[in-house]
Amino acid sequence: MIRFGLLVAVAALSGLAALWWSTAASRTAGGTASGRKSKAGGKPNVVLFLADDMGYGDLGYSGHPTSRTPFIDNLAQNSRFFTHFYVPPVCSPSRASLMTGRYQVRSGIYPIVFTADSVYGLPTNETTIAAMLKPQGYKSMAVGKWHLGVGAENQYLPTNHGFDEYFGIPYSNDDCPCKICLPNEGPCTDPVPSCFPENVACPLFSNTTIVEQPVDLPTLTQRYVDHAINFIQRTVADGDPFFLYMPFNHVHHPHFASASHEGMNARGLFGDALAELDWAVGQVLKALKDQSLDDNTIVWFASDNGPSLMQHERGGSAGLLRCGKGTTWDGGVRTPAMVRWTGVITPGRSNALVSSMDILPTIAAYTGGNVSALTLDGMDITSVIQDNEVLGPRDFLAVYPEFPDKAQGPFAVIHGKYKAHFWTEGKFIADHENYDPMCRPSHPLTKHDPPLLFNLHLDPGERYDLSGEEKYSDEIEMIRTWLAEHIASVDWMEPLTGATDPRVQPCCGDVNCEPFPECCVCQA
Ligand SMILES: *[C@@H]1O[C@H](CO)[C@@H](O)[C@H](O)[C@H]1NC(C)=O
Ligand SMILES: *[C@@H]1O[C@H](CO)[C@@H](O)[C@H](O)[C@H]1NC(C)=O
Ligand SMILES: *[C@@H]1O[C@H](CO)[C@@H](O)[C@H](O)[C@H]1NC(C)=O
Repeated sequence: MIRFGLLVAVAALSGLAALWWSTAASRTAGGTASGRKSKAGGKPNVVLFLADDMGYGDLGYSGHPTSRTPFIDNLAQNSRFFTHFYVPPVCSPSRASLMTGRYQVRSGIYPIVFTADSVYGLPTNETTIAAMLKPQGYKSMAVGKWHLGVGAENQYLPTNHGFDEYFGIPYSNDDCPCKICLPNEGPCTDPVPSCFPENVACPLFSNTTIVEQPVDLPTLTQRYVDHAINFIQRTVADGDPFFLYMPFNHVHHPHFASASHEGMNARGLFGDALAELDWAVGQVLKALKDQSLDDNTIVWFASDNGPSLMQHERGGSAGLLRCGKGTTWDGGVRTPAMVRWTGVITPGRSNALVSSMDILPTIAAYTGGNVSALTLDGMDITSVIQDNEVLGPRDFLAVYPEFPDKAQGPFAVIHGKYKAHFWTEGKFIADHENYDPMCRPSHPLTKHDPPLLFNLHLDPGERYDLSGEEKYSDEIEMIRTWLAEHIASVDWMEPLTGATDPRVQPCCGDVNCEPFPECCVCQA
């Protein structure tokens, strides 16, 4: 009886929310009573937090027993939380898909990732979320780990991709010499070699200028927070709508944390880094609340890919999902994600098949952005966000590997609750000692015909292959047909990550300074 009463109350509430939503939507479109003076007609602000290498099982919200993530857990409670949110399996391709709403092969962001000495970056003719928002009057800032290239002329940094401002390290902190990238851990083994003694010290950029090299990692996250809040305050004072993109260095290895977080968590240094990430998210959310921006700001949170399992007990957790970063199993390509818009989005969980590529077109739908000239793979998922029960608009999603090759195409295809693996390959980052032999690097590139088939709603761990059962043959045929059409419809750009030159590494001194790279040192 009590349960029935609750149901009625919930139904009434969601009716109210729908009404509220239509009011908010017309308010946004009409641009009158937004509660704030805005030159751009009351358009909502957008904040996009991105964690690095944070797995499906890492949050307190998703059940990790010793993680402490109260701010993100609270955000999740007040958001549409996506249980089936997909990303590419490693950093640079994931950020390319997120920023452009397109499969990474279209923009050439493969194989694996950009490094300190990469010559290229995200092509400047790609349209990022910031570039899409610019004609709508938005001011945009990126604070954190960009990882879409730097370039000899800094031509690939965020400031050349639609962002007005940038502050951060443009690539992974393990791409630095180990005495700097592992301030607390001594040797260059964590537990496998990961840092690069021959590289320049990690640079910290403000716009296109290196302001500190090597960066002081323990104070970095506090400074990210200060820059983000300062940007919000300045932009709101100017009456402009803003887009804040905050891709954290946490929780990529080697792990670090400020003095106030280090040694404070049962989960060791990973737990400290995660708690500091959570604290930073909490600080920015508090700044929004303090400025009464909650009901006029869309807040997204996601992670770029699954956990780096080669870090063993010192790394992240994919929870109940199979394998981790680098693989096309769900542990590598499915991460926690959520979106909050206070007073507009009714909190709840959605099992819809969604992708990081959907964020650009969805922001466009909420802000009036014009995407008609873009070739997008992402979809407007406002229907999913507004209603727990809506499973559309996406039926199928292709899952590309770390080393995409036209000879194989996507390794896997997801169709609603089914996932078919046409190819599998184990990965070093998914741990050479993994208890699951499929994840290990000793599992070679393998073709599956028929594809391995899993029901993700019943079997999220991808343990029970259904492909041998006759009753699934129609499902497999549907997936095959879609895959053939998909392959025919996607134009690949030549791969851009492979070209390297030690002298294009970011150096705060003269580009020809000696001895290189030790001469690349500047302190603020
Ligand atoms: C960007 O330019 C390259 C090289 O001219 C071209 O191949 C690619 O299709 C362009 N991309 C877009 C999104 O226009
Ligand atoms: C970065 O660029 C923006 C936009 O041009 C400018 O307002 C800001 O002052 C710059 N920041 C720094 C630290 O130079
Ligand atoms: C959107 O962009 C397209 C192509 O650039 C243009 O033709 C169209 O007029 C634009 N639509 C609006 C509503 O501005």
